[in-house]
Amino acid sequence: MNKHAFSQNVLAQLLPQGLGRPLLFYESIESTNLKLKELALTGQPHGTCCVANFQSAGRGRMQRPWVAPPGSSLLFSILLRPNLPLSQLFVFSALAALSICLTLEERGLHPQLKWPNDIYLQGRKLCGILSESAGAGGFLVTGMGINVNQEAHQLTNLGQPAISLKAASGQAWRREDLLAGILNQLSMLYSDWQRDSKLWLPLYQARSWLLGKQVLVQDGNRQFAGLAVAVRADGALLLQMGKETMALNHGDVSVLAIDGQAKTKG
Ligand code: BTN
Repeated sequence: MNKHAFSQNVLAQLLPQGLGRPLLFYESIESTNLKLKELALTGQPHGTCCVANFQSAGRGRMQRPWVAPPGSSLLFSILLRPNLPLSQLFVFSALAALSICLTLEERGLHPQLKWPNDIYLQGRKLCGILSESAGAGGFLVTGMGINVNQEAHQLTNLGQPAISLKAASGQAWRREDLLAGILNQLSMLYSDWQRDSKLWLPLYQARSWLLGKQVLVQDGNRQFAGLAVAVRADGALLLQMGKETMALNHGDVSVLAIDGQAKTKG
């Protein structure tokens, strides 16, 4: 990938005043999340985006690796400085996931959101999001890995069934157009959130794969089974367990079949 052409293509499509500037492109890097966290600590501004053609140590949730062949994926992180306590930054991962769904819908696909912030297409994982926060100033680095042009044989052995945009649609996708689309959607969702912190909720809930289903949430060594009833404005999942409703901020969710057997895992 030509670094200059890629960056120019993205920058030319970005909304004025929107997220994605500066845009820092790396041919190969350990992890865009790691790099952007280092830069954030040196004062890099809100909206900075790091994008990589290849990550040698891509990071997934729960200390899992995130692996993608060079040039096949969209691997990027965005720095947000919303001036909120660290405990309230969870919502921005949901906005990021929603921005990807909206971008793909504009291109004719119908992805679904699996709380907290995985994106599924045709029942398989298309995208993962890892948000990491740090610093007294309370910044958030949200990293997104989207399977774009992997061939079917490159999507095996990833720990769970996975899909790419190419495998789903039969055609190759231009990663720079997708990145610009996502950054623009996220910019709009972010400014809507600044005006009214609940505007995104109906958009998210309408695309949720889990709401209305019996689910099992694994949070460290704790397990909670219940009905996924809603997502709250702070991004928490509300789980109805008998007469009690519980708000969860993290965890791995499986959808349960009626007989209580785990049906899907992610
Ligand atoms: C998951 O486990 O589902 C989250 C995966 C997040 C991967 C992305 S790729 C870009 C950014 N940099 C990283 O090291 N991880 C995130």
